[in-house]
Amino acid sequence: MNVDFGNALASEATLGVSGASLERLDERVAAIHDRIETGIEDREFGYASLALPDDTDPEAIEAAVDDFDPDAVLTVGIGGSALGAETITAALGVDGHYTLDNVDPARTRGLLDELPLESTLVNVVSKSGTTAETLANFLVVREAMARAGVEWADRTVVTTGESGPLRELADEHDLPTCPVPDGVPGRFSVLSPVGLVPAAAFGCDIESVLDGGAAGRASLEPSLFECPAYAYGAVAYALEGRGATTNAFVPYAEALEPLAEWFAQLWAESLGKDGLGQTPVRALGATDQHSQLQLYRAGRTDKLVTLLRPHERVDVPIPETGVESLSYLGGATLGELLDAEFEATEASLAAAGQANVRLEIDRLDGESVGRLLYELEAACILVGELSGVETFTQPAVEWGKRAARGLLGGGTFEEAEAVDDKTVRR
Ligand code: PA5
Repeated sequence: MNVDFGNALASEATLGVSGASLERLDERVAAIHDRIETGIEDREFGYASLALPDDTDPEAIEAAVDDFDPDAVLTVGIGGSALGAETITAALGVDGHYTLDNVDPARTRGLLDELPLESTLVNVVSKSGTTAETLANFLVVREAMARAGVEWADRTVVTTGESGPLRELADEHDLPTCPVPDGVPGRFSVLSPVGLVPAAAFGCDIESVLDGGAAGRASLEPSLFECPAYAYGAVAYALEGRGATTNAFVPYAEALEPLAEWFAQLWAESLGKDGLGQTPVRALGATDQHSQLQLYRAGRTDKLVTLLRPHERVDVPIPETGVESLSYLGGATLGELLDAEFEATEASLAAAGQANVRLEIDRLDGESVGRLLYELEAACILVGELSGVETFTQPAVEWGKRAARGLLGGGTFEEAEAVDDKTVRR
């Protein structure tokens, strides 16, 4: 990705960071880069995520879905076990990928009524194999398939860890399985089978996504002035320290809307610890210019606005009309209009002194998207190291999972845990 942080500098933005501060921060970035490199080489927990472009075997993923030619893929998973796969298929323009993450009965029922179950591939994903939402939805899907006369075991692929209830179930029914690699937390697993199975099932070139990740890997340099991922992370960190406690992430491409959701999870679950962390907000350009932009320009000065766009897009010409006042549109394209909206928003925020950063990728293809995902993960890891938080854990999320299971009578959740404030806050 290309990163332009000119509108986040002290000369341009109220909360902006000075060149001298960035120079000082760069010394820490260099030291953290060494830490990250060691973590990658030794495949340490969390850092192993940044080795996925090397470690993921695209052929094994393709082999797991080779026997299927689905009209639809239904991913049953939640959080890091769903958002990455959704992000990749949406960015690649795939139609027919659905996700059951929530356990809203109306949504589950509605989707099961709508899908052609006889030609749907069910993609069940859970690293732990114990997540209540995923297992409950899977049991409901299984039963619906059986009721429709579809042999569910012939149309299901499972991605899970080495042990756990889902692994046992997969073994019992001899289901095709893919591994969740060791040392990779859910939200960092997009460049593994967790993120790639649905795209592979639709015949997308998943190798290009991994090639993009490899390009991101090659772009890691020990200076924020040389490395786009570290530039974005360092500026976001510096701005948070100056009061930008919100990071509004605004892609200008509908196909990247799920990426904003993926980013929100990455940022929130990795960095929201010890009383720190920017609150990520998902938005969409140009749609949210007609709602949220008012706040971003004229509301509290407590935000970084991250604007993201592809350089090249599939485009649609805008027809000419005889109406004089609309003549500025005729001859232009929808893509040009969207780019003008992007630049107008950027200029409008800059004019108001609101910090913003521009991220750009070449186009919406596997390589650009794979690289973007990798670089945002590296940016997040850098922010975690600079902030001194445990980027790769999610105790508050785990607490919620145990509590929900406990309320249904499963697991060993003790009521006492609910009042242990330390357990909740970490
Ligand atoms: O990033 C994380 O660790 C979480 O968001 C998990 O991905 C999510 O809770 C699902 O967990 P699992 O894959 O174990 O079902």
